[in-house]
Amino acid sequence: MPPALDAEAFATEQNALGQVWTLLGWTRDVAREGDWFTAHLGGRSVFVQRFREGLRAFENKCAHRFFPLRQGEAGNGPVICGFHHWRYNSDGMAIGIPKSEEMFGATPRDMGICLRPVEIEICGSLIFGRFASAGHTESLRAFLGPLFDIVRAMSPDGIAPLRGASVLPFNWRFAYEIALDDYHIVAVHSDTFGKRGYMLRDRVQYERSGPHSAYCAARVPDLLEGIAAACNAGTYRPSNDYLIMHLFPNIALVQTHVATVMGVRYVYLMLLQFVPLAPDTTQLRWWLWPSPFPTGDTPLQRVFRRISMPISLPLTRRGMLRILAEDNAVCAHLQAHARPDDGSPRLGAMEERIGWHNEAYRQVLEQAQRDAVRE
Ligand code: FES
Ligand SMILES: [Fe+2]
Repeated sequence: MPPALDAEAFATEQNALGQVWTLLGWTRDVAREGDWFTAHLGGRSVFVQRFREGLRAFENKCAHRFFPLRQGEAGNGPVICGFHHWRYNSDGMAIGIPKSEEMFGATPRDMGICLRPVEIEICGSLIFGRFASAGHTESLRAFLGPLFDIVRAMSPDGIAPLRGASVLPFNWRFAYEIALDDYHIVAVHSDTFGKRGYMLRDRVQYERSGPHSAYCAARVPDLLEGIAAACNAGTYRPSNDYLIMHLFPNIALVQTHVATVMGVRYVYLMLLQFVPLAPDTTQLRWWLWPSPFPTGDTPLQRVFRRISMPISLPLTRRGMLRILAEDNAVCAHLQAHARPDDGSPRLGAMEERIGWHNEAYRQVLEQAQRDAVRE
């Protein structure tokens, strides 16, 4: 299926994807009572907030006249609309409506007005959300399969990732599909990954896991189940092989060994999310942090690691942003020339995971269509 290039197709796509577990943000950003942050879900603005009763999320839209309740990226404070001062509680109920009986002839309680809720679940340090729907009732754990255990182990409490975001002038699926494509590296990343020439399909591991997939730069049968089991047993130690896990619909979690110096292995994790904003606009959000797994460093290596971290982390970030910039240049060209009648691409052996992602994408859209007919 081609990317949703016009407003109507994009709205249909986003309605469907809003019902799928989607990364909203990090627990560390809502650590204290009253903390909130905004995110995008299914083409809509939502906010996540920590109340005394726990974490909750709602569409970022007042139920009175649809003013955005939260402006900006993050803050702290009660949910009070800036337009007419309606106030909401942790269940999203409008509990404070100025001059309620004079203006509306009823008390807030009698009116029983509520914000649109977002279901949320946590995996490690990550908060995922979705809008409720009849067609998607599985838990986040069931949705992610073995990736749940892996993501949980890779993003434990207490990590403080470097982070960044940028707005890109193309459809999110161009960006996501290039991350699923190992065929372009010689042409597009000729100074880095592409230097080594074309990868051989039978030397790498591609694995499909429900709507998700993974790549490893070495043959490792039962890749994700194996990593998940080791994570759960506390025995997982990253290898030097490049590992990318693609969580449907729009996340790539990359584990990369960037160097070994003085016997110190530097392994980093990068989380990339391609957030759809419009048919031709995507927000790239990224987070970068050192692998949290035991390193086996000697005391001397531990000191060396601590001293060298302020160098290795920015270097890794620079390398990551450079690769992304090369990909983004390609995506901008794809966007400029894309037409809805382009037909189906011809996917080769190193682009197999794009086909898998397309299938999962089609299934979600078809499910949403069936749900709409049933309603
Ligand atoms: S729009 Fe929010 S109180 Fe009126
Ligand atoms: Fe690339």
